[in-house]
Amino acid sequence: MNESTFPGTEHVTDHLSGRIPGHHPSPEPAQPFSTPPRPVTTPRALPDNYAEMPKPTAKLTAEDLAPVNDPNGPRHKIGPTGRPLPDLPVPQPPAKTGPAQVIAMCNQKGGVGKTTTTINLGAAIAETGRKVLLIDFDPQGSASIGLGVQPHDLELSVYNLLMQRDITPDEVIRPTRVENLDLLPANIDLSAAEVQLVQEVAREYTLQRVLDPIIPNYDVILIDCAPSLGLLTVNALTASNGIVVPLECEFFALRGLAMLTDTIAKVQDRLNPKLEIVGILGTMFDGRTTHAREVLDRVVQAFDERVFHTVIRRTVKFPETTVVGEPITTYAPSSQAATQYRDLAKEVLARCPAG
Ligand SMILES: Nc1ncnc2c1ncn2[C@@H]1O[C@H](COP(=O)(O)OP(=O)(O)O)[C@@H](O)[C@H]1O
Ligand SMILES: [Mg+2]
Repeated sequence: MNESTFPGTEHVTDHLSGRIPGHHPSPEPAQPFSTPPRPVTTPRALPDNYAEMPKPTAKLTAEDLAPVNDPNGPRHKIGPTGRPLPDLPVPQPPAKTGPAQVIAMCNQKGGVGKTTTTINLGAAIAETGRKVLLIDFDPQGSASIGLGVQPHDLELSVYNLLMQRDITPDEVIRPTRVENLDLLPANIDLSAAEVQLVQEVAREYTLQRVLDPIIPNYDVILIDCAPSLGLLTVNALTASNGIVVPLECEFFALRGLAMLTDTIAKVQDRLNPKLEIVGILGTMFDGRTTHAREVLDRVVQAFDERVFHTVIRRTVKFPETTVVGEPITTYAPSSQAATQYRDLAKEVLARCPAG
């Protein structure tokens, strides 16, 4: 990925470079985010052609595969990412509520499991006794639908909160059927915000301003981003401490990831230095195909310990949960899919300092 402007982020460029929005003096080309990404927080970029990357060499030994709980055995069992699984503690309910960790589910590619992860990770964290808010930040309203809310019936949505100063969060936030899990719903109105926000002062900080007063009321806030890297997503990244990147385990996922990490580095540099990648999550993993395993191997080579040990396997259960409008953790509480999201919740909480 070079330094060219991403479609939909020109306004960010304008804001960051101090130019008048929409005014591009010629002949000088736009130089968005010209500061190089910080080496410490930026993962190694993936090569454009991942086939050029060296093949993984690690061979699993019988010792690696021995069970975790064997007191005489080696340390740990190998997980689906090819690394020893950590022994993570069962998260205990927090002594007090807040301040919230704000985590954006982000990948500009659609259909990679952002919404599914927001809903089910949110529900799994809520099960631990933490107060969780899900923010639907996609005009398609999929997170709202997935929790049984019909977007076209909404009188107020996150759009009103962003655009009208006289609306307060408690007028828009609603409880869900899951204990400890609240929803800030969205609908197609939000697509207008992408355009209207361009006129606002400090437009990249609009969501952060809206969230500030409710940070003490929650332990975790998860933002379900739209499949784009436009101003709404930049708002989500600016309001967050962490990012979870769901990644469908298939070839083209990798190229999108290089573009995404580039954008994240630019937001870190210009708008939000506290933003960190909490982890990269393999989704729709089919362990029976060598292709899915190869993709996961490559992602681990490039991003090392940033890749979650938990991988979400492909199952028809998720499309079913959308129909019934509830998370997998309540729809099929003892399913493998529910267990995977509970494991992910443990990892996310372990990685967030105030988890
Ligand atoms: N692990 C999975 N196995 C099978 N289908 C899945 C899985 N995760 C998500 N899906 C389905 O894939 C589709 C896209 O997922 P979604 O979470 O909406 O992606 P995004 O929000 O990134 O567009 C949905 O129909 C969802 O039900
Ligand atoms: Mg979605």
